[in-house]
Amino acid sequence: MNIKIAPSILASDFSRVGEEVKRLETSGADYVHCDVMDGNFVPPITFGAQMVKAIRPHTRLPLDCHLMVLHPETHVEDFAAAGADIITVHVEACDIPALFRQISSFGVKKSAVINPETPAEVLFPAVDEGADMLLLMSVHPGWGGQKFIAETLAKIEAVRNYCVKAGVPELDIEVDGGITEENVGDVISAGANVIVAGSTVFKAKNMAETIARLRG
Ligand code: DX5
Ligand code: ZN
Repeated sequence: MNIKIAPSILASDFSRVGEEVKRLETSGADYVHCDVMDGNFVPPITFGAQMVKAIRPHTRLPLDCHLMVLHPETHVEDFAAAGADIITVHVEACDIPALFRQISSFGVKKSAVINPETPAEVLFPAVDEGADMLLLMSVHPGWGGQKFIAETLAKIEAVRNYCVKAGVPELDIEVDGGITEENVGDVISAGANVIVAGSTVFKAKNMAETIARLRG
């Protein structure tokens, strides 16, 4: 499977996000991961659809929007209008079949995510609902720079095995949180092929080299 790197702008310089997104594109990133937080589903507030609209003209890369929000159904239209290419919603916060129908109605790719404490099998129905991607949190959502939760590896394997059995062996599986050059190999071997990295990418001395190394 082709490995995709999705740097999170959560770790970027918020005073220059447009330039940071351009830097991601020239450094070889595959997606721009937008960590949206509402201060309710998770304690911090980061940004909303206006930020996605603002960065849209600065990159051709797909905007991969991770909605860490309650009532995501009230936000989908705004993110679709802002130019989101992928919208990921938390299984813990909504009814996946309804959200998938709503996201698809705007022509946007639909993805479901689970938190570290949520069992892998909770994601299986999203596969049957035609997910375009699945996301597993490998840190408790809300902050960048946390330590990778090792138990995530077994969950990634379980989800990839389910995808194989369900007849979608190549379905994109994204992992988000605490990924470094040291642990990315384990994440990919477990079955993930889309790597979210905030700190590792934005703290890098040479962003392009780090992205290339993360891609293995
Ligand atoms: C948590 C965020 C982080 C972020 C990645 O809610 O979703 O996982 O994207 O941050 P790092 O790569 O710094 O752990
Ligand atoms: Zn994220």
